[in-house]
Amino acid sequence: MIAVSRTKIVVAALAVVALVQVARRPRAEHPGPDGSDKEPVTRVDRDVRGNALRMLDEGRNTFRFDTFGDEAFWGDTLRLHEVIAGSELGGTGPGLTPTEALALGLKVDVDALPAHVRVGLKHGTVDLDDPATTLALLKLDAVVGVTGFFGDDGGLRSVGIQCALCHSTVDDAFAPGIGRRLDGWANRDLDVGAIIALAPNLQPLADLLGTDQATVRDVLNGWGPGKFDAELLLDGKAMRPDGKPAAVLIPPTFGLAGVNQHTWTGAWGTVTYWNALVANLEMRGKGTFFDPRLDDPAQFPIAAAHPEQFGHKRDDVDLITPKLPALHAYQLALPAPSPPAGTFDPAAAERGDRLFSGKAKCNGCHVEPLWTEPGWNLHPASDIGIDDFQANRGPDHVYRTAPLAGLWTHQKGGFYHDGRFATLRDVVGHYDEFFQLGLTDQEANDLVEYLKSLPGEEDAGG
Ligand code: HEC
Ligand code: HEC
Repeated sequence: MIAVSRTKIVVAALAVVALVQVARRPRAEHPGPDGSDKEPVTRVDRDVRGNALRMLDEGRNTFRFDTFGDEAFWGDTLRLHEVIAGSELGGTGPGLTPTEALALGLKVDVDALPAHVRVGLKHGTVDLDDPATTLALLKLDAVVGVTGFFGDDGGLRSVGIQCALCHSTVDDAFAPGIGRRLDGWANRDLDVGAIIALAPNLQPLADLLGTDQATVRDVLNGWGPGKFDAELLLDGKAMRPDGKPAAVLIPPTFGLAGVNQHTWTGAWGTVTYWNALVANLEMRGKGTFFDPRLDDPAQFPIAAAHPEQFGHKRDDVDLITPKLPALHAYQLALPAPSPPAGTFDPAAAERGDRLFSGKAKCNGCHVEPLWTEPGWNLHPASDIGIDDFQANRGPDHVYRTAPLAGLWTHQKGGFYHDGRFATLRDVVGHYDEFFQLGLTDQEANDLVEYLKSLPGEEDAGG
């Protein structure tokens, strides 16, 4: 008996020694929170990482290049490709030159251009005033967010659009409007309305809206650069009560991981809800969409009258649903970019940081480092002292606390959903008055410098 107990004691002692050794091992075998450490150790970990990387690649492809079959609408039905090609190349009218396309805010992806085209552009031997050059760029898949479909005769047969049309721009590295892709940045140069208004056949939109093509064209031309109206075809409200267009600014789609409600107004839903809505109802790709809230004839008269096109959409093929998981992953992976040095005053930004969480009380809603509320990030218009027109176009009649990371990238077009405040100083001025903050001029400017500095160094990449 004694011998057995002694064995037990020895075994127990060895176990303690082994545990102490494990405890002393450096922790570096587990990947650190900054992702800088070792490869994952288990097979499951490796599978998860592999899956994440695969989704990012797939999602990027979808975001940049997938039309979801929407060329059946933009090309085959609205015949947008005809005005791009022009009558000499099988379309109608003078055609769209690259110079005109750039002026409408369309962007060219320099990485898609072969070396000889880049050289030609540099030396001015590529004719930017010839629609044939536009077609050549489309053939190269170099026009951000637009895909041309070409027939066997080389003619432009149809055209479709992608997420990247509105939610990507380029860094202008090569020339204004020509550079490397910046996915997730709002293209505030893009005049979507003017582009759609070029289409020879706007009858399908006129039919839905119960009006004529000339009126539809006026509405579209009234939006101006950087704006789009995602609710127009649901509720038919083209104008605000003050007579201005009801379109809203194109928001950035980076820095959204951890953010609950998306879009300016809530509560439409999460990123993947909106991705499905946009691909089906706005881009008019082929897919499936379900939202019985759109059956409400009082709020969404057009959608409620055409359930098969809106809240209960089921096309003969579904080119959207299988792509939603990876598209979601890619969207959430897009980091809000940090501002380049020299674009804000660091000392003032530091003072602004203290004001943001202190005297100015911004952090009460814009909670760092999401800069929106963790949880239910929605407010009635009265909470922020503005009118409720746009809020009432969303299901819950509220505005979403806008996440502020990367504000510096979208100063063009103004701030708040409709750009009603031209500058950040105007936004701060509004809060100062509405919340009676009693900010001095210097304090207001410090806050502005802080806003321009977001997401800041330590939070970059989140
Ligand atoms: C024609 C321009 C256009 C296209 C194309 C487009 N969007 Fe948008 N997107 C907008 C506008 C405008 C809003 C703001 C809508 C609102 O709040 O009412 C928006 C909002 C969003 C938001 C919410 C961002 C936020 O935090 O407010 C996400 C996410 C988004 N779009 C993703 C996509 C994806 C994915 C696609 C492709 C399937 C896409 N969009 C295609 C114009 C566009
Ligand atoms: C009661 C909650 C609340 C408080 C407090 C608040 N905000 Fe906001 N903020 C919002 C909401 C909601 C929006 C979206 C408004 C819209 O879409 O029209 C917004 C929008 C903004 C925008 C525009 C973002 C864009 O993309 O256009 C800025 C900038 C901003 N807030 C900064 C601040 C600052 C600075 C403070 C402190 C002085 C502050 N906010 C205090 C709720 C709040």
